[in-house]
Amino acid sequence: MPQQVPTSRKIIHMSAGMPASDGDGVKLMRFIGSDDINMVDPFLLLDLFGTDEPEDYIGGFPSHPHRGFETVTYLLAGRMRHKDNAGHEGVIEAGGVQWMSAARGIIHSEMPEQENGLLQGFQLWINLPATEKMKPPAYQEFSPDEIAVETRLDGTIIKIIAGQTDNGTQGPVKKITTGPLYLDVQLGKDANFSQHIPTSHSVVIYMIEGAALIGEEKSTLSQGHLAVLGEGNRIELVSEKTGADARFLVIAAKKIGEPVARGGPFVMNTRKEILQAFDDYRQGKF
Ligand code: FE2
Repeated sequence: MPQQVPTSRKIIHMSAGMPASDGDGVKLMRFIGSDDINMVDPFLLLDLFGTDEPEDYIGGFPSHPHRGFETVTYLLAGRMRHKDNAGHEGVIEAGGVQWMSAARGIIHSEMPEQENGLLQGFQLWINLPATEKMKPPAYQEFSPDEIAVETRLDGTIIKIIAGQTDNGTQGPVKKITTGPLYLDVQLGKDANFSQHIPTSHSVVIYMIEGAALIGEEKSTLSQGHLAVLGEGNRIELVSEKTGADARFLVIAAKKIGEPVARGGPFVMNTRKEILQAFDDYRQGKF
């Protein structure tokens, strides 16, 4: 087999996010699905909610539908209760993940399981290809102790939610059609992090804490910013300066390349399918 020449992906777009409010008044920062970044195929939305002001989250996300894609909730702090119209219920803990393939439809609520303290986490929407948009809904849920962890000699600690590191550590989330990689990386001091990502995939990196330098150009990605990376088959990050901390998410998935029609909580291929989704919802077919 011919060897693929390693090409390091560079930053093609950077965003500090746009303040938004969703559900019942939950304040959040929207990084994908905003006027700044509409979508990064197959990613339709990326929200960060993070506040210790109860009035900014206490309303939660009361009963609402989804169709045509997956929602991935990864909590960093706090607890969130999830409940749906198919009798599925559970609590996502800090460090835990819920990967919900809404597919043909689900009606659910996502409510804070706390009245004070910090609630912080990410919600990502990943599109589904046309062939999977009308499949039955499915869940994969993992508590913090079920998330795979890889500790490297240079002090880097990687939590693997989905996909596989170059050292072969696999995340618990499996059998997702877009072959996602979802990593939470705590970069060691004076360390570098390199990871193969197929050319078929889009990649975004969100800097949770600190800063790091990306690609051969060593472009700085600082705290609170999302970087969309361009073509290539690897990502490379190094510590910004000696002794500095950095914690970031690496999220990658295979591009779908189909037409996207959006209507609120529904994402299909055509306008007609969106109208059908609203019709089905009104008629109680979810
Ligand atoms: Fe939802």
